Amino acid sequence: MPAGIANIPSLQETFQNYFLMGNIVSGPAFESPRFDVLKYHFNIATAENAMKPDSLQREKGAFTFAQADGMVDRVLAAGMKMHGHTLAWHQQSPSWMNYEGIGRQEAVDNLVNHTKTVAEHFRGRVVSWDVLNEAIGDNPPNPQDWRASLRQTPWYKAIGAEYIGIVFRAAREADPEARLYYNDYNLDNKNKALAVYQMVKELNEQNPDVGGRPLIDGIGMQGHYRIGTNPEDVASSLERFISLGVEVSVTELDVQAGAEGVLSESQAVDQGLVYAQLFKVFKEYAPHIARVTFWGLEDSMSWRAVQNPTLFDKNLQAKPAFYGVADPDAYIRDNKKTVNKEAKRTKALYGTPRIDAAAPDPAWDKAPEIAIDQYLMAWQGAKGTAKVLWDREALYVLANVEGAELNKASPNAYEQDSVEVFVDENNGKTSYYEEDDGQYRINFAGEQSFNVPAGTEGVESAASVRGASYTVVMKIPFKTIRPEKGTLVGFDLQINGASVRGPRQSIAVWNDTSGESYRNTSGLGILELAAE
Ligand code: XIL
Repeated sequence: MPAGIANIPSLQETFQNYFLMGNIVSGPAFESPRFDVLKYHFNIATAENAMKPDSLQREKGAFTFAQADGMVDRVLAAGMKMHGHTLAWHQQSPSWMNYEGIGRQEAVDNLVNHTKTVAEHFRGRVVSWDVLNEAIGDNPPNPQDWRASLRQTPWYKAIGAEYIGIVFRAAREADPEARLYYNDYNLDNKNKALAVYQMVKELNEQNPDVGGRPLIDGIGMQGHYRIGTNPEDVASSLERFISLGVEVSVTELDVQAGAEGVLSESQAVDQGLVYAQLFKVFKEYAPHIARVTFWGLEDSMSWRAVQNPTLFDKNLQAKPAFYGVADPDAYIRDNKKTVNKEAKRTKALYGTPRIDAAAPDPAWDKAPEIAIDQYLMAWQGAKGTAKVLWDREALYVLANVEGAELNKASPNAYEQDSVEVFVDENNGKTSYYEEDDGQYRINFAGEQSFNVPAGTEGVESAASVRGASYTVVMKIPFKTIRPEKGTLVGFDLQINGASVRGPRQSIAVWNDTSGESYRNTSGLGILELAAE
């Protein structure tokens, strides 16, 4: 018996009373012994790429089903079920289908024709479809308004929000039996989850009878997670979706840990704990969960191979993650350690400095120095130190960065050489951004970019460069609190280091190593506003 089977329980048997257990298939998945391991643990498959629009209709009107058919046949012959992924998406679609500037009628024709042809073709062979993938934008600022939260894709720009109803109706018509899913990532983010919830709620209320049932049967939570993912956030989104009366599936589960293909023993245990906590949650909500599918069998085959995100290593040996999944309670009992590290604390002194980065105000001199030197990516690039002052009106941050490439070529502000300040004014440690929270970024050239729910009036900043070092100074007005001596504020600092070519290669932080500070304040450090 190959590794991956010998002496370990079958996951599909372990979970037979809970939900289907799935994994992905691509060409190499069918090789031996990989396919034996796949069949042993999983009873449903998703094609990793073969059923995406660019695989099935690269040239307009010329459908190419051979490869996908071959996969589906082998999966079904092995006694497994098949899930379809994905009928409509803004990515991995041929450019003729949904290009920028496409006209409305052409877009509708392409969308409906592709959806109908594909769903009809696989009818009877797939139990469910991801009808639409990733239609909601990231971090929607006003998630109650789902239309305003839609990703600005060519489908949306050409057709408007109705494209969603159009694609789901076409799929239902073509395959009335298949369960039809809306699928997206980062749904542990409360704001994104709320936008999806509002969308499915409204569309199902308005379309209660599309071939005998509401328009959308299910919500797929992709589940591309990491060590910093909070299982409670996953649980609260699950609960929210379930309250709509739809089924939920976890459709692309993986948990990144370690880097560059290396996973230390302690990282492997942490990863096992995240999987265990997630499966504890999934078991709890199992009556409403149809399926849990992993996005990759073994680490070396994963789309995120360097971050070791799956249950099996490259020799198909079960990792701690496997045992975390197979028996969450036992795993948590045996490996319990303090998963949540205690937040670091520092002080801001009272004072009002000039906003000058070239010749910093002497008011900073006595403030304690904060080291921004915990790296989140494999590359250890730009790092630095900071000092903080406060007065009744604002926080003031002075940061000195060294070892920077001084590159701001990336269109994504967060990839440019820059300093970020995270503020949680009421130290509420929420897992999403509230009005009092904010992310303030300034690059080495002094350009500002913010992610702040309640406006950024009065932010001031300055920057100054010397060789590979730079200094930034920021004034960040308090939005919601009246600060006084002793007030505790959630606070963190991050230095983004660009590579010479532009993309970010390094991230250094003061306290929160989860990589989630931009949307989740629960991991921030603590800043005490000290004596006047
Ligand atoms: C990924 C595949 O794993 C890669 O092989 C491919 O190069 C890119 O797409 N969300 C999805 C999946 O819905 O289709 C993506 O799959 C991963 C993110």
